[in-house]
Amino acid sequence: MIIEPRMRGFICLTSHPVGCEKNVLNQIEYTRNQGAIAGPKKVLVIGASTGFGLASRITSAFGANASTVGVFFEKPPSKGKTATPGWYNSAAFQKEALKSGIYAKSINGDAFSDEIKQKTIALIKKDLGKVDLVIYSLASPVRTNPKTGVTHRSVLKPIGQTFSNKTVDFHTGIVSNVTIEPCSETDIENTVEVMGGEDWKMWMESLMEADALSDGAMTLAYSYIGPQVTEAVYRKGTIGKAKDHLEATAFEIADMLKHINGNAFVSVNKALVTQASSAIPVIPLYISLLYKTMKEKEIHEGCIEQINRLFRERLYTTSREIPLDEAGRIRIDDWEMREDVQNKITELWEQADTSTLSDIGDLNGYKSDFLNLFGFGLEGVDYLEDTDENIQIDELV
Ligand code: NAI
Ligand code: NA
Repeated sequence: MIIEPRMRGFICLTSHPVGCEKNVLNQIEYTRNQGAIAGPKKVLVIGASTGFGLASRITSAFGANASTVGVFFEKPPSKGKTATPGWYNSAAFQKEALKSGIYAKSINGDAFSDEIKQKTIALIKKDLGKVDLVIYSLASPVRTNPKTGVTHRSVLKPIGQTFSNKTVDFHTGIVSNVTIEPCSETDIENTVEVMGGEDWKMWMESLMEADALSDGAMTLAYSYIGPQVTEAVYRKGTIGKAKDHLEATAFEIADMLKHINGNAFVSVNKALVTQASSAIPVIPLYISLLYKTMKEKEIHEGCIEQINRLFRERLYTTSREIPLDEAGRIRIDDWEMREDVQNKITELWEQADTSTLSDIGDLNGYKSDFLNLFGFGLEGVDYLEDTDENIQIDELV
């Protein structure tokens, strides 16, 4: 069939298998062009199908030649309906890995459940024995806690006071004011349940118990800090509480991994257009100003550039010393947070309105990145060609 983007609010209902494949091929090519990494050998990526997790899987496999097990939660194609982009990304990844003789297997299911944890660990035990790197890159609005059976939903709200600031509808370019009422106490608890560190710790405990972590194994989860304009709704809001919890959990996991000479870190990454970040108010306006500023300064990066820098300049350097900030975190948001970048954005923020944004912000860059997430608007893809949506994933366990 001919597949076109069908937008509804902040999501796109369709995705293009050939475009998604092209996205993956571009990321593989970028990684290969950077040269080989003396990096991990056997890697588990939880949240491996899109965004930072996919980039982590590609960097491990095609940068370090590592075997990877990827876990994700994606919808397969059904009659006349396309799959979610992460499904097609994973199909493309598996195909390329197999072609290159690199071990790769994938599991599609709820990573928060005991069942998927056990299934994943059984696969690791059977095929790889142990892993030396675990990347935790889930972004989800909902989690059912397997211990209590309670389903929690995360919210994106300020704490204690009403938040009001500019935002943009990136489809129309209209800048308006958004007001968000403060959260309740249960909103905080729920958001921490979903996006905090509890599930990461459960994974690491289960892997440890099963003796599936090699000596010196490392685990990493991703966090975000960001600028002052988004602070009330992001870092000091409900999601920020979850990130505080995630960051605190890194120290607990690190303690546990000491017995095997392992370690656990949080890496603070740059703001990027992903399915998760597009839904957060104010962030799209900030990202469009950020992209413009960083592109002008020639320091703009996407997920794959970020994760390659993380592996090459933080995790697997020749000295093997990992540079950390005062709170013990890895920072690859260093260029985003540079003073000249942030000062420029503060200046642009004042000027941003519907009439100025197309000049002072990179609205087109935002839009094209968003479409790219779903496999649309990629160079070298013929979107008028009849396309088979019914693509399956090789080595799906
Ligand atoms: P994403 O939406 O692109 O990726 C989420 C991944 O989690 C996908 O592979 C999806 O299949 C998987 N997933 C979701 N629910 C699942 C479940 N129940 N079971 C199994 N897999 C599930 O998100 P993105 O942006 O790559 O985020 C990953 C992490 O990076 C998050 O912790 C996020 O907060 C963090 N981060 C994101 C930034 C951004 O600007 N996008 C900036 C800095 C950090
Ligand atoms: Na991810």
